Amino acid sequence: MKYTHYVFDAYGTLFDVHAAASRHADDIGEGWDRLSQTWRAKHLEYTWIYAQTGRHTTFWDLTERSLDTAIATIGGVPSGIREKLLEAYRVLDAYPEVPGVLDALRAKGATCAILTNGDPDMIADATSSAGIADKLDRILTVHDVGIFKPSMRVYSLVTDTFGCKPGAVSFQSSNRWDAAGATVFGFDTLWVNRSGAPAEYSETPPTRVATDLKPLRDD
Ligand code: LAC
Repeated sequence: MKYTHYVFDAYGTLFDVHAAASRHADDIGEGWDRLSQTWRAKHLEYTWIYAQTGRHTTFWDLTERSLDTAIATIGGVPSGIREKLLEAYRVLDAYPEVPGVLDALRAKGATCAILTNGDPDMIADATSSAGIADKLDRILTVHDVGIFKPSMRVYSLVTDTFGCKPGAVSFQSSNRWDAAGATVFGFDTLWVNRSGAPAEYSETPPTRVATDLKPLRDD
């Protein structure tokens, strides 16, 4: 295999962040999709501002605060939905191909890990509820460096932990900005373009682009 290490972003790449609002779509009403998109966009924006201003907090803190902003933005969201969405966010669905891809890579001798902004307890909940906890060799979180992605300190957790060169790593993310950061760090990257987004960050092209993680089974 070309890579000894396969490292995955968590939210949006392994876990469907829109599963929480989708599960409660009937209760939320027709604005559920906009609510979910706004929640995700604000969640990420808050991580960037924290990183850029040299501050840090938990990902869960920003999960709650970005949801509050999304609810206020959309308006008309029934009471009680906030708690239901937060509960659902802890036990998101994994995308269907995820277990099989992890099994296939590890059967060939590769190491599989998560590298995420998520808090260790959030990722423990998510991986166990999705049934993939035993398919991962390591969970790496920004908790250990105290800054959110795309700080280079986050990506260096991988090379520091495994004692490998960046070129030995295939890094997978559905977040184009995350794949850009990882490319700058020196990883080979797979941009998992699940939503059919247009190409961007042309100065830091991903090594590969796919609509899901399945192509990794052929590595
Ligand atoms: C993560 C976010 C960025 O899991 O999706 O790190």
